[in-house]
Amino acid sequence: RNVEIHSSIGSTNARAKELALSGAREGTVVIADEQVQGRGRLGRSWVSPPGKGIWMSVILRPRLSSQQVPRITIMTAVAVANALKRSAQIDVGIKWPNDVVCGGKKLCGILTEVHAEPEVIHYAVVGIGLNVNLSFEDLPEDIRDIATSLRIEKGKEFNRADIIKSILQEMEKGYLQGLRDDGFAGLLKEYERRSVILGKRIRVIGVDGQFSGYAQGFGLDGSLMLRLDDGRVERILAGDVSLRG
Ligand code: BTN
Repeated sequence: RNVEIHSSIGSTNARAKELALSGAREGTVVIADEQVQGRGRLGRSWVSPPGKGIWMSVILRPRLSSQQVPRITIMTAVAVANALKRSAQIDVGIKWPNDVVCGGKKLCGILTEVHAEPEVIHYAVVGIGLNVNLSFEDLPEDIRDIATSLRIEKGKEFNRADIIKSILQEMEKGYLQGLRDDGFAGLLKEYERRSVILGKRIRVIGVDGQFSGYAQGFGLDGSLMLRLDDGRVERILAGDVSLRG
């Protein structure tokens, strides 16, 4: 395996993209102790203080069409959940599309960035930000009611290398079995079992506007099926979910 480790970097996703563009092979991993320009979805920033979390990006080159990109995020969310069960004895939920949550608060975020030309994926960079040893005080005040860490949840510190190892093992499994058409249905079952929105009334802020309804299920492309109040079902490819429907 190709692993690049940095004590401090802007963003592991940005670095992984550079490597992918210069031909790095799939499975290449970039890990940093600290990110000074960690990025989240929708242009947000990601707080990544030194030594406190897992800030890592993995380069994949899956044979998928650009419409199937959400599968990568779903596979990764399930992999992180399974890894956390195994290496930190914690049961987590998944909030579509990419949040790993515990007690209603976010523990881990996933940022999948792809370069597709135009139909097939050239490379995908999957960024994982997992709050491991942050204390409550380590969290910026404005996210203290929406974010958490393994340390806050379990009252002890964890070895990051052990967790990284489990995540990469679970991702390898998910990548080999779960991204293919037949394997993905099984993966979706696991995803649904952990979903904190399935069957609940939610509000989604999507690219095409804001919708309220019941989360009915997930499509084979990784989309969310939302049953609107008039009975129609809206298929949503990307967006932000709030459980206050
Ligand atoms: C989100 O929930 O908005 C996604 C957060 C993703 C954060 C990770 S940390 C490692 C990688 N590098 C980044 O700059 N972002 C991702």
